[in-house]
Amino acid sequence: MLAQAIASAIRYDDFNRPPYNRIMNRLKKTDFGKLAEALICRRRFLADGIAFGSAAFIMGGAPTELRAASRLNFEAVPANTLDTVTVPKGYSWHVVAKWGDGLWSNSTPFDPATRGTGASQERAFGDNNDGMALFARDDRSVLAVNNEYVNRRIFYGNRNSYRPENADDIRKAKAGHGVTICEIAQRNGTWSIVKDSRFNRRITADTPMHITGPARGHELLRTAADPSGTITKGTWANCGNGRTPWGTYLTCEENFNGYFTSTDKAHVPGPALRRYGIGGRDYGHAWATVDEQFDFAKHPNEPNRVGYIVEIDPLDPNSTPRKRTALGRFKHENAEVVLTDSGKVVVYMGDDERGEFLYKFVSAGRYAEGNDNSGLLENGSLFAAQFDENNRGRWLELTPATTEMSSQAEICINTRLAASAVGATTMDRPEWVAANPNKGEVYCALTNNKNRGKKPNAGGDDTPVGGPNPRAENIYGQIVRWTPDKGDHDSTEFAWDLFVLAGNPAVHDDDRRGSPNVTTENMFNAPDGLAFDTNGLLWIQTDGKTRNKGDFAGMGNNQMLVGDPESGEIRRFLVGPRECEVTGLTWSADRRTLFAGIQHPGDKGGSHFPDGGDTVPRSSVIAITRDDGGTVG
Ligand code: FEO
Ligand code: CA
Ligand code: CA
Repeated sequence: MLAQAIASAIRYDDFNRPPYNRIMNRLKKTDFGKLAEALICRRRFLADGIAFGSAAFIMGGAPTELRAASRLNFEAVPANTLDTVTVPKGYSWHVVAKWGDGLWSNSTPFDPATRGTGASQERAFGDNNDGMALFARDDRSVLAVNNEYVNRRIFYGNRNSYRPENADDIRKAKAGHGVTICEIAQRNGTWSIVKDSRFNRRITADTPMHITGPARGHELLRTAADPSGTITKGTWANCGNGRTPWGTYLTCEENFNGYFTSTDKAHVPGPALRRYGIGGRDYGHAWATVDEQFDFAKHPNEPNRVGYIVEIDPLDPNSTPRKRTALGRFKHENAEVVLTDSGKVVVYMGDDERGEFLYKFVSAGRYAEGNDNSGLLENGSLFAAQFDENNRGRWLELTPATTEMSSQAEICINTRLAASAVGATTMDRPEWVAANPNKGEVYCALTNNKNRGKKPNAGGDDTPVGGPNPRAENIYGQIVRWTPDKGDHDSTEFAWDLFVLAGNPAVHDDDRRGSPNVTTENMFNAPDGLAFDTNGLLWIQTDGKTRNKGDFAGMGNNQMLVGDPESGEIRRFLVGPRECEVTGLTWSADRRTLFAGIQHPGDKGGSHFPDGGDTVPRSSVIAITRDDGGTVG
């Protein structure tokens, strides 16, 4: 097989419908052992979709057997609450790049007193690095990194209110977002930015980009600034990422809504905008105070021009990024790209919001090496996932006929409404998706969902307890996986099970203890980033609660673990510094360096990572190497 992983506003707080209570009560009576057997470990699937019902395939079985057969060749790192990065014995780490580092020799050095200006930030590494990918050309390495948002408490630490106070503060924020592209090189074992490289580039919330695909030019995308609906300004809230077989970078627009506010407090946006949270909480970014684009009362179509996957050529600094509307508009987490045997491009995508959906795009055209593949993400079919209780599921195509929406363009703009219309399954916040390079099998981190079984999603869709979302008011999260029939990513039918239910076996004895492959030695909460290495091992990054007490006692700081899809074994590889999440990972061309992201250390005031002392904490990309020079995954 050629599978190639290269690549509210409406407040429902009062909602508590009787059916949810019934479901929850039923769950409480359920014996957890039965639940685990039914959902997690009973079934393994061959590539042709035949189920194995043998207990031999139970994951997380006898720990001694796992140790004997383990493919995880590193010593587990114990949980901790240190303000540093901890890696296994025999491994080392160092910082490659951090917020505010200059990309050019004439960039202004980071100033911890002012924390920079608009002008300095536009020529420096952005804040809160997230998804990333390393591209190699000849012997050069070019890193594309998302800068998801800015940590206002730190970013505006020179302001009394931790909020922007003038137009330059907002210019600085817009430059702190987006994507940083920079060449990096390893000298004497240490990776760092190659200043003045011709590849170095900042893409920000002010960078012009083309709108492509079915929604290009649609009336819902036309604005005063762009009556054609074809060119828009900026990308922001760039969360996870993807990469294509033809060498482009995909950046995924996630929590875009929080940047839109209204000068007219009486203005109530329509239901389509409310479904995306427009008109909800004011997060205090204040961008609309200097840029009308972010005033949804004045420009109600502007929010329709963000929430997409944006394709960027990281090796052409003069290229214009392209928003790919064919892949739908929602709070995109990442974009996992695989090829089918026939060369179709399949992109798996999660929508990270409580009770939203999982999606798949299948290209109309086919990839062929050496051909012009630049238009493959412009047209194709879009699907949302529906999971049954019996470990089967299907992809429901979103078309005007199935959704009763007026056009494919409208579906690509109001994708959440389309998926609700076909009855897709509401999920526990789909984060990253990762495809196993060794077989037709795909994983998605469902990070948590305090509303499961309690409140519907913002569109009013039920969130029943069951299927891949088996716990009410889910605080720990789980990882679901599915096998398309015949191992073919173009298939609309699949079988699913749960790879892991996160939990705390030190504190709980019910379903909150987690699945059998969760122990007091490897426990974690809120799985988020996922990626497979070339050995077919699954790297898992967390963005969870770090208070290390109560339900989260013994879990320590956020972390990175490695899971074996075959045995179910999970082992902790890394612990991050205080208050960070660990997010984003990619490898050097020789696989001897693993790059990982440390995002928002100290966002509550409790970290000075990476420089220690009383320094300003700064989100960073770190490099992890083996002391014996071996490969890392
Ligand atoms: Fe940006 Fe869902 O994490
Ligand atoms: Ca995430
Ligand atoms: Ca998260």
